[in-house]
Amino acid sequence: MNDKILILDFGSQFTQLIARRIRELNVYCEIQPCTKPVPAGDASLKGIILSGSPFSVNDPKAPKPDIAALAAHAPVLAVCYGAQLLAQQSGGEVGQSTHREYGRAHLNDLQHNDPLFSTITDGSQVWMSHSDTVKQLAEGFTLLARTESIPVAAFKAPASYAPNPVYGIQFHPEVTHSIDGGQLLKNFVTDICNCTQDWTPAAFIHETVERIKVQANGGKVVMALSGGVDSTVAAMLINKAIGENLYCIFVDNGLLRKGEFEQVLEGYKHLGLNTKGVDAKERFYSELAGVSDPEKKRKIIGRLFIEVFHEEAVRLQDVSFLGQGTIYPDVIESMSIHGPSATIKSHHNVGGLPEIMHLTLIEPLRALFKDEVRRVGREMGIDDIFIGRHPFPGPGLGIRILGPVDATKVAMLQEADAIYIQHLRDSGWYHKVWQAGAILLPVQSVGVMGDERTYEFTVALRAVSSVDGMTADWSHLPYELLGRISNDIINRVRGINRVVYDISSKPPATIEWE
Ligand code: XMP
Repeated sequence: MNDKILILDFGSQFTQLIARRIRELNVYCEIQPCTKPVPAGDASLKGIILSGSPFSVNDPKAPKPDIAALAAHAPVLAVCYGAQLLAQQSGGEVGQSTHREYGRAHLNDLQHNDPLFSTITDGSQVWMSHSDTVKQLAEGFTLLARTESIPVAAFKAPASYAPNPVYGIQFHPEVTHSIDGGQLLKNFVTDICNCTQDWTPAAFIHETVERIKVQANGGKVVMALSGGVDSTVAAMLINKAIGENLYCIFVDNGLLRKGEFEQVLEGYKHLGLNTKGVDAKERFYSELAGVSDPEKKRKIIGRLFIEVFHEEAVRLQDVSFLGQGTIYPDVIESMSIHGPSATIKSHHNVGGLPEIMHLTLIEPLRALFKDEVRRVGREMGIDDIFIGRHPFPGPGLGIRILGPVDATKVAMLQEADAIYIQHLRDSGWYHKVWQAGAILLPVQSVGVMGDERTYEFTVALRAVSSVDGMTADWSHLPYELLGRISNDIINRVRGINRVVYDISSKPPATIEWE
C-alpha cells in the first residue's frame, strides 16, 4: 500500500491544487471534508495538510477540528486558515490584518535548521491571500519565517503540543506564484512525513489491475464507452484485469461527430477491447423530431441512451458489474463542504442503471485527476486519438443544434465541425484549446453566392480555454485562422452562408449553448 497524505478541505479554492502538487511528487493523497473524522489506525497515513478557507477563525460558524488531536495521527502542515486555527487553538492571537496580505510577498529570516525550510533561500517569493493574520504565537511556538509585511509567515508547534511535528504557514505553497512552494511541500512530504515517492502511473496500473481482479472475482462487467479519455482508460484497466469478461457497448445516437462512430470502434478494436457498436440513430432522430426545448432534448437523449444500453446489457446475461470512468473531481465535488455541485458530468450518462440492474460499480479512475488519467493512458500505450481528445458532451450534437434536431441538420453541422476541427489540428491550435466545436443556429440570413441570393443557416464556432470546464474563457484564435475556417465552411457546406465566433466566457455563459 502506498504512503498517503490526507488533505482536509476547509473550502479553499486551492484545495485540489494542493493535491496535484503532492501527486506530482509521486506521493498519493486524498482530499476529505474537514468535518469528516480522520480514520484511526490507518498505517498508510503519513501526513495531514489543512487547506485554506474562506472562513475567518473568528466566525462562530467556522469549522474547528482539534489540530492537536489530528497530529496524534501524523505530522500536520496547516495552510493559511489552518495556520490561523492552529495559532488560535494553541493560545495565540488571530485578528484582522492591518497590512496588505494579498498577492506576492517574500520570506525572510528563514530558519534553515528546520527541515521544512532547509532547502529554501531567504527572499523566496510566496503568494498570500488572507484578511486575518496571526498577531501573536503561543508560548513555546517557534517562528520559522516572516515577510516584509507580516511578522509571522511560518511557525512550528513545540514537541509538547503533539506527538508529531505541527507547522503553520500563512501563504499558499500550492500556487505557482510561490516559487519554492513545491520544494516546501516536498520537504514536508519526504523529510517530515517520510513518504516514499513511489506512486507512479506504472504502480497505479499494477495495483488497480490487481484490485479489479479481486473485486470482479470472475464476474462479467458491462461498460458504456464514449470514445472519450476517461471511459477508454477505465475500460483498458478493466480489460487488463479481466480480459474477455469485460463487455463494452458504444451507442451511435446519431449525434456524434463526423465519422466518429466508425473511427472510435476501429480504435477500440486495435486496443483489444471487446466492443459492440449499436446503431440507434433512427431511434434518437424519431424521438427528437420537432422538440426544441433544450432540457427536453437532453432528457430524451439521456433516457434513450439508458434504454438502448439496458437492452444490450440484459442480452449479455449474468452481468454483475458496471464499469464507469468516474474521475476524482466528480467524487470530491459531491462531498465538498459546500455541498453537491450542479455540474453535469459524463458519468451521469448511465444514471439509475446500477440500481435497476442490480449492478455493482467498478470505477478504476475514482482517485485520479484528468491529467493523471492521461498519464496512465499513455503508460498503457493508448493512442493519442483517445488521450488528447477534447471533451465532448454525452448529448453530443443534439445540444449543439439549437432548436429541433434532424438528420439533415446533423449532417450539415458534422461537416462544418469537421472542417473547423481539422483547421485547429493543422494549425497546431487543437491542443492549445481545452474544447472546441461548432454550433448550428436556428437562424437563416441573407447572403450572396455568385449571382445568387442565398437564405441559409449560421454556424457559431466555440473554442475555450479551461482547467476543468467549471469556468472557461474564449480562446483568442488568430483572425487569419478564423478567416480560413469561415471561408472553408461557407464554400464547402451547403446550407450555411454565415459563420460567427463566440466570444463569451463562462460564467456568465456556458461552454455548450444548450
Ligand atoms: P457547460 O455547457 O455546462 O459544459 O459549460 C461544461 C462541460 O461539460 C460538458 N457537458 C456535458 N458532458 N454530458 C456530458 O458528458 C452532458 O450532458 C454535458 N453537458 C455539458 C461540456 O461539453 C463541457 O465540457
